[in-house]
Amino acid sequence: MEEYAREAVERLTTRPAEPYETLSVSPITPLLGAEVSGIDLSRELTPQQEKEIKHAFLTHHVLAFRDQDITPEEHKRFASLFGDLHPVSLPAEGSDPYILEIRADRDSRMVAGNGWHADGTADPEPSLGSLLHITTVPEGGSGGDTLFANMHLAYELLSPAFRSFLDGLTAVHDGAMPWKTAGQTPPPEYDVPRNEHPVVVRHPDTGRRLLFVNGPYTSHIPQLSGQESEALLALLYRHIAATPLLHCRVRWQPKTLVLWDNRCVQHHAIWDYFPHTRHGRRIAVSGTRPRA
Ligand code: SIN
Repeated sequence: MEEYAREAVERLTTRPAEPYETLSVSPITPLLGAEVSGIDLSRELTPQQEKEIKHAFLTHHVLAFRDQDITPEEHKRFASLFGDLHPVSLPAEGSDPYILEIRADRDSRMVAGNGWHADGTADPEPSLGSLLHITTVPEGGSGGDTLFANMHLAYELLSPAFRSFLDGLTAVHDGAMPWKTAGQTPPPEYDVPRNEHPVVVRHPDTGRRLLFVNGPYTSHIPQLSGQESEALLALLYRHIAATPLLHCRVRWQPKTLVLWDNRCVQHHAIWDYFPHTRHGRRIAVSGTRPRA
């Protein structure tokens, strides 16, 4: 491993012990994700529990809470601790405007999020994070895991010279792209978002830099020729997908809730359970404009 990469990993693996009084926080890997226990999300949290969860969220970026028997209202109440709820972009008629049903079964032709991405990055203010509560796991109890990748580390594992080059670039994110990829056109009522964000942004709470491009939404880098932009994005996506050091994997059980920081992780829902059913509800929290 290169010296700059060793330093980046060492910074995370030699963190001081975390000061939790009410929670038990067990890292999934030393570099991303944690299982959190000792908390019942169906109850209102105490200020100390809230403080500890927010600390764990900024430290580990992906938090898994097991055995959470929560109603949609309790799910929303927990989500709203992190900010305003982010409305679903195309809610089904009569559905709750803040709850996205995540469902795949025998009739599915595709599933949401089956590829590395961050949510809604074509929006001017992509979501802060999402909270997915899975209620039905595939029959047999395995399959349907979700992978997460740490975009801070994705940036920090690049060489300093390459990072400096990326620091000066922006990228266009186009909400029409996922529709085109699926061979569909967006419905007329959908006001398709298209926004330019820096390729390298700072996390709004920690100031730490991270890589902010993703396959489904990033169309091109306007400072480069078409060929250069395509090659650079392909290199970055390969780096994200082919570097296991960046990843953690969550294996769902019924009533697991996972909260992830959409500002600094990408995720990938694995569809390895066809024709079985997986079902849950996702609520997102509103974010802010990404800044360099
Ligand atoms: C998504 O939010 O992209 C879906 C995640 C999942 O189903 O695990």
